[in-house]
Amino acid sequence: MYLLIPSAGIGKRMGGTRNKLLLEVRSQAIIAWTLKAAAAASTIKWIGIISQPCDWPEFKDIIADLNLTKPVEFIAGGDTRQESVYNGLQALPATAEHVLIHDGARCLATPDLLDSCAEAIRQCSGLIAAVPVKDTIKVVDDHGIIQSTPDRRQLWAAQTPQGFNVKLLKECHAQGVRQGWEVTDDAALFEKCGIEVQIVPGEETNLKITTPQDLAIAEFILSNRE
Ligand code: CTP
Ligand code: MG
Repeated sequence: MYLLIPSAGIGKRMGGTRNKLLLEVRSQAIIAWTLKAAAAASTIKWIGIISQPCDWPEFKDIIADLNLTKPVEFIAGGDTRQESVYNGLQALPATAEHVLIHDGARCLATPDLLDSCAEAIRQCSGLIAAVPVKDTIKVVDDHGIIQSTPDRRQLWAAQTPQGFNVKLLKECHAQGVRQGWEVTDDAALFEKCGIEVQIVPGEETNLKITTPQDLAIAEFILSNRE
């Protein structure tokens, strides 16, 4: 299975001055934890790391320390996650039939989750890991007034890995460029094109490291795994 890891963000909500994926949790960079999970997932045979060229020297040092046995390709990121994934898709080897896309910032996803998504994508066109939401979610207007309360039984929190048929995902991205769609995950492009996306059970601990609090939570989760 081919794996693309979008890692080209700036980490604005983290509040730092550089890519948050270089911050450390339990003495290792966030991106190192993500790569270790990818290395341990037996189905993953090729890794494409999508990142800003200014981060490549540090990423390369981190990868060298991990002694990975799988090929790792560097792909230049774009201004948005959507553009970064687009670039990643263009860089996939021609033989790639399916692809998993997994955010560099989701460094707590287990190798088992990557493997189960890799197995499942062979049977469908698109899938995402997701978990049922625990909060009651409100739809709120620009004035802070609640408009509605969607039925929680139909609400799921989207995670990555997300898996796709490569040909279809490339078509959806191209359509997105033509139509000017702006989305925050790849499943949304499938949805807009009317192609089915399957949910597979995600992991409660598979959080996306976004704010400084998330670093502390990740620290806690990883220390409990040892
Ligand atoms: N990402 C990317 N290219 C971008 C923006 C984001 O590859 N131009 C990646 C991030 O590196 C991250 C994933 O997409 O692994 C999810 O994005 P997010 O958590 O929003 O990270 P950032 O965009 O870096 O953070 P922020 O939105 O707070 O700036
Ligand atoms: Mg972002």
